[in-house]
Amino acid sequence: MASGSAAAAPAPAVVAVTVAAALLLALCGSTEAHTQLGAYNKTCPQAEDIVFKEMTAAVAKSPGLAGSLLRLFSVDCFVGGCEGSILLDSTASNTAEKDSPLNKGLRGYDVVDAIKAKLEAACPGVVSCADVLALAARDSVRITKGPYIPIPTGREDGNRSSAADVAPNTPKPDASVADLIAFFGKFNLTAKDLAVLSGAHTIGRAHCSAFSSRIYNFTASNNVSDPTLDANYTASLRGRCAAGDLTTLVDLDPSSGTTFDLGYYRGVAASRGLLSTDGALLLNEDTSAYVMRQGNATATAEFFADFAASFVNMSKIGALTHHKGQIRRHCSAVNPPSASSLAPVTMGAHAAVLLASSLVSIVALALVL
Ligand code: HEM
Repeated sequence: MASGSAAAAPAPAVVAVTVAAALLLALCGSTEAHTQLGAYNKTCPQAEDIVFKEMTAAVAKSPGLAGSLLRLFSVDCFVGGCEGSILLDSTASNTAEKDSPLNKGLRGYDVVDAIKAKLEAACPGVVSCADVLALAARDSVRITKGPYIPIPTGREDGNRSSAADVAPNTPKPDASVADLIAFFGKFNLTAKDLAVLSGAHTIGRAHCSAFSSRIYNFTASNNVSDPTLDANYTASLRGRCAAGDLTTLVDLDPSSGTTFDLGYYRGVAASRGLLSTDGALLLNEDTSAYVMRQGNATATAEFFADFAASFVNMSKIGALTHHKGQIRRHCSAVNPPSASSLAPVTMGAHAAVLLASSLVSIVALALVL
């Protein structure tokens, strides 16, 4: 019951200080970095539609791009966080991630640049390259008949991109399932996330070089193939990839490489996982159980829901917010010093004026009371 005593009510000066503290928090933002659904709803309401339209057109012209954009995003996230560093070009003094020999096979940079150009024309300096990549990747899934993934946005772009960061943050081609689980664990992703996100290999292609050791020289003696790979599949892969072929691309999911479905799991469950790391999923109790369940499933509902959740988990890795990064004007280069300071300074000045006038009012109020 309320006491009704005047002493129980907070003193006006306390109220004023509390209001000031709340105002300060609102102006500065919380210290915890976070992204949110529809971060551009007010600042660039058409942003997500622009990305979807451009992606739809690009994939209609070249269906292989869906897989390429999905992979580009995952590589960006694992190397230094989802902050667009994979998109930066090398400079005279720096070799960037994209020029690491391990990333030579990545494709789709021109699509990102084209989408970014449309976004800059509609809302200059608002949508980050990191978000363009995140939205393009989620649209790759949607356009190939996978789930629609509501994905938080509001990432900013990082300034660092070093080829030296790539190898320590890329699973080795012959990684064991324990290695893969440990690798995902570094990013707070679980064995389930590993089994689920590997399902991305239901679309897209790999170079023959990514699996040639499995079909030609699995042991030191030549012409021995990986005995865990289905023999008919090995024979058909040998037909596609001559020994030493570095350029030919082969579907990761031979049954339906341009459709986001359960074909990948059916393949892996039947010893037809193209990459050694796909086949390795069968060698751990948890990941194997997931592969077998989806491989035998008659509906995509569980995989789609899981993929949406794990994709969002991945999309949070190392995201930059609260002016820790910038909104790049061009995805391939950090902003020149004047442009890069523009957004934070403009907002900082606005916030400073608001803050100063609020503090003056609060001090005046406290004095009067
Ligand atoms: C388990 C760890 C992973 C490994 C070891 C791995 C490895 C690879 C390799 C070697 C390729 C072939 C690259 C080439 O030859 O050009 C590839 C392609 C691909 N990966 Fe992964 N990957 C992993 C996880 C992921 C994740 C988490 C995603 C996305 C959520 C993803 C999506 C893709 C896609 C879509 C392609 C096809 C790319 C294209 O068609 O251009 N991968 N991956």
